[in-house]
Amino acid sequence: MSQPNGGTFDIVILGAGSGGYAAALRAAELDLSVALIDKAELGGTCLHRGCIPTKALLHAAEIAEQTRESEQFGIKAELIGVDMAGVNSYKDGVVARLYKGLTGLLTHNKNITVVAGEGKLVARDTVEVAGQRYTGRNIILASGSYSRSLPGLEVDGKRVITSEHALRLDRVPSSAIVLGGGVIGVEFASVWKSFGADVTILEALPRLVAAEDEDISKQLERNFRKRKINFKVGKPFEKVEYTDNGVRATIQGGETVEAEVLLVAVGRGPTTQGLGYEQQGVTLDRGFVITNERLHTGVGNIYAVGDIVPGLQLAHRGFAQGIFVAEEIAGLRPAAIDEAGIPRVTYCDPEIASMGLTEAKAKEKYGADKISTFNYNLGGNGKSQILRTQGFVKLVRLNDGPVLGVHMIGARMSEQVGEAQLIYNWEAFPEEVAQLVHAHPTQNEAMGEAFLALAGKPLHVHA
Ligand code: NAI
Repeated sequence: MSQPNGGTFDIVILGAGSGGYAAALRAAELDLSVALIDKAELGGTCLHRGCIPTKALLHAAEIAEQTRESEQFGIKAELIGVDMAGVNSYKDGVVARLYKGLTGLLTHNKNITVVAGEGKLVARDTVEVAGQRYTGRNIILASGSYSRSLPGLEVDGKRVITSEHALRLDRVPSSAIVLGGGVIGVEFASVWKSFGADVTILEALPRLVAAEDEDISKQLERNFRKRKINFKVGKPFEKVEYTDNGVRATIQGGETVEAEVLLVAVGRGPTTQGLGYEQQGVTLDRGFVITNERLHTGVGNIYAVGDIVPGLQLAHRGFAQGIFVAEEIAGLRPAAIDEAGIPRVTYCDPEIASMGLTEAKAKEKYGADKISTFNYNLGGNGKSQILRTQGFVKLVRLNDGPVLGVHMIGARMSEQVGEAQLIYNWEAFPEEVAQLVHAHPTQNEAMGEAFLALAGKPLHVHA
C-alpha cells in the first residue's frame, strides 16, 4: 500500500484503536472522507495488546483448569503441562485473523485513507505525519492509553513487567506478584494460577475489584482463596528490589513478598503527551482530554474518543464514542452516551459482569430507604450446578421504580451481560422482567429467577 501525501478530508483521526477505527467506519458509511492515522498496527491496544490476546490466554487457562478438574465429572485426563509456545501461537493466531479482517475492512474502504506513521496536531485542523499535512474539517483525537507505573517503580520488561510484556512471556513464571487488584490484576492472576504459578496480588484498597459492588469483591475473594490465589489488600505497595533470581516487593508496614516477576497493573494513563494537543488549546487534566458530553473539546472542530477521555477505559465505550462522533459530525444529532449504561465485564475465573449502580452508589444517590436488593445464589441454578460454579446474580432496584444495577459473578457470566444491559438501559421494572420466560436450564435463568424473587414471587429460592 503506498503512503498518501497529505490532503484535505472531512475527518482526520489520530489513532486507529477501537475509538478511532469505529469513528472511521461509521463516518465512511455516512459518506464522509476520512484520514485514519496510526504509528502502529490498526486495531490498537484492544486487538494487539489488550482485550483479545488476554481473553485468548484466559480461555487457554480455562482449558487447563478443566483438564485438572476433569475427574470431578468422571472424565479421566491429566494435565501434563502448559506449552507456552503453543498457547502463544493460538493467541497470536486469533489476533492475526482479526487483524487481517480489520485491515481489509479499513484499507478497502473508498472513503478511508489509512496513514501509517506518527501524527502530531500542528494546527487546530491539521495533523502532520512525516512532514505531510493532513487537514480535516473535523479532527478526532483517539490516541489511547498506556500501562502506568508508580513513581520510583521502574519497569524493566523482564522482572518488573506490564501487561504488554506479560502477554509476550515465553514461559509460565514459577511465581508472580501482581501489583494492583483491579481488572488487569485479577485477570492475569487468574491466568497464571491456572497455568500453575504461585500468585500473590497486592492491592492498596481494602478489597479486590474495588470498583465493583462490595458483594462481588467478597465472592471473588472467596473463590480466589479456594483457588489458592494469595492476596493482600488494604496496604499500598512501597518498593521493589531485585533478588538473585527475581524480585522482592514491600508493602506498607514492612511485609515482603518474593517472586520471579512482578506485574504492574495499577491503571492505564492517557497517551496525550507530545502530540501537540495542549499547544492547540485542548484542555488536559492529568493528561486526559476534557470534552463536553458530546465529546467536543471546545476547540475548533476537535473531538476526542476512547481512553483519553476520562471515564471507563473499555473498548466497547471507544466503539460507541467513535460511532457517536461520526454521527455528530454528519449532523445526525445522536443521543449522548450514558456512562452508567455501559456494561462492564472482568474475565477472571469466576467471571464478573455488571451494569449500572452498585448497592452503595444507589443508596448514595437515592437514599438507603428507597432501594431494595436481591441476591440470587447460583446454588439454585441447574446449569451452574452442572458447571460446578459458585456465585450469584445481585439486583438493585429503586422501590416502585426501575432496576438500577445488575451484578453477577460465576463461570460464563460475561455472556449474561447483554440482557442486564437491556434491562438497565430500558429502565425496566423488575415486575416487567419477571414476566419474561427464561430458558431452562441456562445460567441466564438465574437472572430470570432473581427478577421473580424481586417481584415478590420467588421460585427456586432457598431461605
Ligand atoms: P484498575 O484501575 O482497574 O486497577 C488498578 C488497581 O491498582 C486499583 O485497584 C488500585 O487501587 C491499585 N493500586 C494503585 N496504586 C497502588 C499501590 N501503590 N499499591 C497497591 N495497589 C495499587 O486498572 P488496571 O487493572 O491496570 O486496568 C487498566 C484499565 O484497563 C482499566 O480501566 C480497565 O477497565 C481496563 N481493562 C478492562 C478489562 C475488561 O474490561 N475486561 C481488562 C483489562 C483492562
